[in-house]
Amino acid sequence: MSTANLRTAYNYKVVRQFAIMTVIWGIVGMGIGVFIAAQLVWPQLNFDLPWTSFGRLRPLHTNAVIFAFGGCALFATSFYSVQRTCQTRLFGGPLASFVFWGWQLVILLAAVTLPLGFTSSKEYAELEWPVDILITIVWVAYAVVFFGTIMQRKAKHIYVGNWFFGAFILVTAMLHLVNNMEIPVSLTKSYSLYAGATDAMIQWWYGHNAVGFFLTTGFLGMMYYFVPKQAGRPVYSYRLSIVHFWALITLYIWAGPHHLHYTALPDWAQSLGMVMSLVLLAPSWGGMINGMMTLSGAWHKLRHDPILRFLVVSLAFYGMSTFEGPMMAIKTVNALSHYTDWTIGHVHAGALGWVAMVSIGSLYHLIPKVFGREQMHSIGLINTHFWLATIGTVLYIASMWVNGIAQGLMWRAVNEDGTLTYSFVEALEASHPGFLVRMIGGAFFLTGMLLMAYNTWRTVRAAKPAEIEAAAQFVVEGAH
Ligand code: HEM
Ligand code: HEM
Repeated sequence: MSTANLRTAYNYKVVRQFAIMTVIWGIVGMGIGVFIAAQLVWPQLNFDLPWTSFGRLRPLHTNAVIFAFGGCALFATSFYSVQRTCQTRLFGGPLASFVFWGWQLVILLAAVTLPLGFTSSKEYAELEWPVDILITIVWVAYAVVFFGTIMQRKAKHIYVGNWFFGAFILVTAMLHLVNNMEIPVSLTKSYSLYAGATDAMIQWWYGHNAVGFFLTTGFLGMMYYFVPKQAGRPVYSYRLSIVHFWALITLYIWAGPHHLHYTALPDWAQSLGMVMSLVLLAPSWGGMINGMMTLSGAWHKLRHDPILRFLVVSLAFYGMSTFEGPMMAIKTVNALSHYTDWTIGHVHAGALGWVAMVSIGSLYHLIPKVFGREQMHSIGLINTHFWLATIGTVLYIASMWVNGIAQGLMWRAVNEDGTLTYSFVEALEASHPGFLVRMIGGAFFLTGMLLMAYNTWRTVRAAKPAEIEAAAQFVVEGAH
């Protein structure tokens, strides 16, 4: 059979769509974050209306940032990198477009139903059963496109980034199906199939692995593609990346009970969760070090490249939050940190420092590529964004540490006669300055996102249709 070079094109359209929506949902989700942060400073902002109350807007924030912002970033980067590393167009033709529009519909339904108060009351799985079914359908389509692309790859081996994306897709499907087993009583209300401590255990098996697989494994897939690309260096150790992969996915799944310390859950399960969380430090840091060391010989690039800075600082925050997490999983430490703002600080060290920053860095790399431009409209603006994001994250985390430790100590302080030293309101008053600093930190981060939107808009506007089309073209060497 004769071989020839075949000219063909990647499906960049769906990547462009998801990339733009990442920026938009980032602004929406973080905007709501700043608003609920302001509500904690000035409770009058609840407006005495159910739809605008903190209790309803909080899940809107978490769903918007995790599933709309984080989700779109994961779709954009996985669809981009799987095509390039497999040297083939996305599998399934219009199915990729279905994934895009289906996911936007899920987000829209969340934006309507959550403020209306429709909720299954499970954290990070609040959406009611009809939306859960839609999510399942879209997710299956995503899996078909992703794994179909891998099946028809032209490159021989499967790049490690795709292993991480693949595990994220499979495990998220499993978590979603198991935790959302529910009995509908009407179109807008259902009850969990599980009861009592079992329900709690299933929920936090889901909750922790949503962190582990949605907010970590998928973003590690991103890290393994975009850090080497932006640094212009191969991954530091391919062997380490394989060990990292297997260790991470086998350990994460056992750590859920650290969310249920001192509850009705059997004590052995709590201790197991604690020990597995401590062990989890090793693969987490293995991955972080692998990413960081990829810059060996390229550290000087950090001086001029704010995109690389985003990526490296995200890894530093990843390392920090995966050190803090195991410490908080120790039962005696958790006795102090649980229910306090320390948890909220830990969450955002991961969410802003790691998840958002690695996504932003990756998008700044990807956006010009899929729009046929050399680089983003303004590198200076990326640099300003970098500093706003870094300072915003530090303000957020530091204020929550101070608040969290103060709250924990004040709640447990007792007088000689055994009565509590402080009332709850006194601890709340002491938290007020920290709430204000957190809101300012969030506003910094949000301002950075607005700069990103402007920069993206200018980059997209400058792109000519012919350039956009040419950017997706590639040649398969030796095709039949
Ligand atoms: C401008 C940036 C942001 C601000 C100002 C912000 C603000 C907030 C506030 C005020 C809360 C409620 C805290 C409480 O109940 O005491 C919260 C919760 C939460 N946020 Fe954010 N947020 C931001 C960005 C993000 C991002 C990017 C993510 C994820 C990728 C995220 C994930 C979460 C999660 C998971 C929770 C729930 C934490 C828990 O239940 O322990 N946030 N956020
Ligand atoms: C080795 C890695 C990690 C371990 C062992 C760990 C451990 C913990 C622990 C012990 C808690 C407090 C549970 C409680 O008192 O209720 C917690 C909460 C949380 N962590 Fe982590 N963490 C890790 C990494 C991360 C990362 C990288 C992120 C974000 C990307 C993250 C996101 C969260 C969230 C969202 C919560 C709050 C859950 C809730 O109560 O709503 N964690 N984590």
